[in-house]
Amino acid sequence: MKQQPPASVADHAAIAEAAAILEQGGLVAFPTETVYGLGADAENPAAVARIYEAKGRPHDHPVIVHVAPGADLDYWVTDVPDEARKLVQAFWPGPLTLILKRHPQIPDAVSAGQDSVGIRCPSHPVAIALLQAFKGGKGGVAAPSANKFGNVSPTTAQHVRDEFGMDQHDDGDLGGGVACSAAELSVVLEGGSSQVGIESTIVDMSRLATHGPVLLRPGHISAQQIADVIGMLPAAPDQAAPRASGTLESHYAPRTPVTMLAAAALADTLARLRARGVKVAVISHAATVAADAQRVLPADPAGYAYGLYAALRDMDQTGSGLILVETPPQDADWLGVNDRLRRSVFGSAGVIDSLLQK
Ligand code: TXA
Ligand code: MG
Repeated sequence: MKQQPPASVADHAAIAEAAAILEQGGLVAFPTETVYGLGADAENPAAVARIYEAKGRPHDHPVIVHVAPGADLDYWVTDVPDEARKLVQAFWPGPLTLILKRHPQIPDAVSAGQDSVGIRCPSHPVAIALLQAFKGGKGGVAAPSANKFGNVSPTTAQHVRDEFGMDQHDDGDLGGGVACSAAELSVVLEGGSSQVGIESTIVDMSRLATHGPVLLRPGHISAQQIADVIGMLPAAPDQAAPRASGTLESHYAPRTPVTMLAAAALADTLARLRARGVKVAVISHAATVAADAQRVLPADPAGYAYGLYAALRDMDQTGSGLILVETPPQDADWLGVNDRLRRSVFGSAGVIDSLLQK
C-alpha cells in the first residue's frame, strides 16, 4: 500500500485537546486507517445525537464504537463467543468491526436501539493516541465516517473539511488539529491519507450459534482471512441478517452520475459521448484511454481501494457530465472495491443512453 507522507500529523497537544472536547460532549473528526471518522463519546447520548445531526443521518442507523488497544471487551458487550476473541486477537488493531450483543450498561443511542453494537479498534497511530488520551483509554468513541449522509467517505482531513464546509486557517498553536468554522465540528485531526481507503470489514458475531458469522460489509480483511482464523466462512448478509445501513444502495455516491464499463467498451463509449459534447471523467486501472479528466488507479485491490474515494471526489469536481469507471476484476480480492463501486453507480442506470440522446 502506498502512502503519501502527510503534510502534518496531529501532535500530542492537538490530540489532548481533541480528547478534552470529546469528554465535554463535543465532536472531533479523526483519521483511521480505513476512512476518517466523526467521533463522539459513545456513552454520552447527547453527544452521539450530535453526530446524527451533523451528518444528516437517519436515527435508525447504528454507529461503530472505537476502542483503544487492549480495551476491556466485556465492558461493552456480553455473550462474547471464543471465535470473536480470536478475531480480536488476529486483527485488532485493524480494519475489522465486530457486531456483538450490547452490554446493558451501554446506552442504546450508539446502536439506534438495537441490542447489538459494532465495535472496533483502529490501527492508525493518531486514532490510537486519541483513544488512549480519551478517558484515560477506558472510553469508547462512537464514529461513523466523517461525511454527510450518503456521500463518499473521506480519506483525508481536507475531505472532511470539504464535507462540512470548513475553512482551514492558520493555527500555529493547534499543531495539526485544525480549528474550523462549522459550529457542530470544531476539530479535525490530521493524519495523512487513510491507508486502507475503504470502510472496515463488518462481521456480525452476535448470533453465532443460530446464524453463524455474517459478513455485513466486505473490506480489506476478507471473508477467507476470517475463515482462516475461526474455521467458519462468514455468510453473505441476505441469507441471514437484516440489512445494515451501510448496505443502503445509495451510499458512497458522488454528485456526478457514475457508470461502470468493461475496458473493451470504454474507448468507443467515450468517443460517442464526446462527439455529443459531453465532458467525461474516467477512472481506469488497466485500459488506456484519453479522457477530459482521468485517474488511473493501481491494478491491485489494495492500491485501488487506497485511491478510490479520492478519485471519485476529484472526478466529481471536474464539471463532467459522467464519471466512467472501468469495471474492476470480479474475483474475491476485489469484493470490497466492487461493493463500494456498485453503490456509487446506484441511480445512474441508463445515464449513457440519455446523454447520447440529448
Ligand atoms: O471503517 C469504518 O468502519 C469507519 C471508520 C470511521 O471506523 N466507520 C464507518 O462507520 O464506516 P459508518 O457509520 O459509516 O458505517 C457503520 C456501519 C453501518 O453500515 C452500520 O449499519 C453498521 O456499521 N453497524 C453499526 N452497528 C451495527 C449493529 N449493531 N448492527 C448492524 N450493523 C451495524
Ligand atoms: Mg459511512
